Amino acid sequence: MQLVTEDTITDLAAARWGTAKDPRTAELLTALVRHLHAFARDVRLTEAEWMAAIGWLTRTGQISDDKREEFILASDVLGLSMLVVQMNHPFAPEATPATVLGPFHIDGSPELDFGGDMSDGVPGTPLYVCGTVRGLDGEPFAGALLDVWQADAAGDYEAQLDVDEARLRAKYLSREDGSYCVRTIAPKGYAIPMDGPVGELIARTEISHFRPAHVHFLLTATGYEPLITHLFREGAQYLDSDVVFGTKEALVVAFEPRDPGPTPDGGHSDVPWLEARYDFVLQETS
Ligand code: BEZ
Ligand code: FE
Repeated sequence: MQLVTEDTITDLAAARWGTAKDPRTAELLTALVRHLHAFARDVRLTEAEWMAAIGWLTRTGQISDDKREEFILASDVLGLSMLVVQMNHPFAPEATPATVLGPFHIDGSPELDFGGDMSDGVPGTPLYVCGTVRGLDGEPFAGALLDVWQADAAGDYEAQLDVDEARLRAKYLSREDGSYCVRTIAPKGYAIPMDGPVGELIARTEISHFRPAHVHFLLTATGYEPLITHLFREGAQYLDSDVVFGTKEALVVAFEPRDPGPTPDGGHSDVPWLEARYDFVLQETS
């Protein structure tokens, strides 16, 4: 019979999970057992604390569905998402850096033409985000797909609302000269969802639960590494305290005020608008 003591339990459990047939799974599970046990030892975890943690995990699962991703949110606020992003996207310093995906991306956004309006009547200050998509050699290129999404002026994403149509999200293709142009509304800073288990934990701390104003981008192009990133508004509140650790200097862009008149898509605005210029630099796949 196995002799299970506080001293032997970790080796016994790690050995058992090390029998996973896939070697990588075995590596992940044995390391998980060792780190979990080390954590429990380190803090001398009590049974009441462990039951409270299990209750929290249960509620995190129960509140999650196809629109609400509470585990992603938990990973984001714990800094784990950004750590995984950093480790897996060691881009060249000249490439546009990656940041968190977040829980609100929706697949299958409609494709719009150059300058197409993804805000489509949602109230806000018109914003044009335009520039080029380039490789590390500086050459702009055609056919990069930009999947773009953002929150409305109240800080809500489509996934948080009961709507049938795509709202504040669209896909754009870079043109022959590498140019792209997104017409949207100026994003605002917003609070992450605080009505669930993640909010419960944050409310026990001094952590600011806000994100600075940003627009999300997911860029894909044949022969290049996919890029998940944001553009943040220069001067926005919370740039220094982003609750999900997602801000990076290279992703902060001026939203320049413009008077009514011609817009970068060749159109015209009757009201004052904002212009953000950004050239995305993608890294070739190795
Ligand atoms: C977001 O920017 O959409 C987001 C990212 C992480 C957590 C919550 C929201
Ligand atoms: Fe966001």
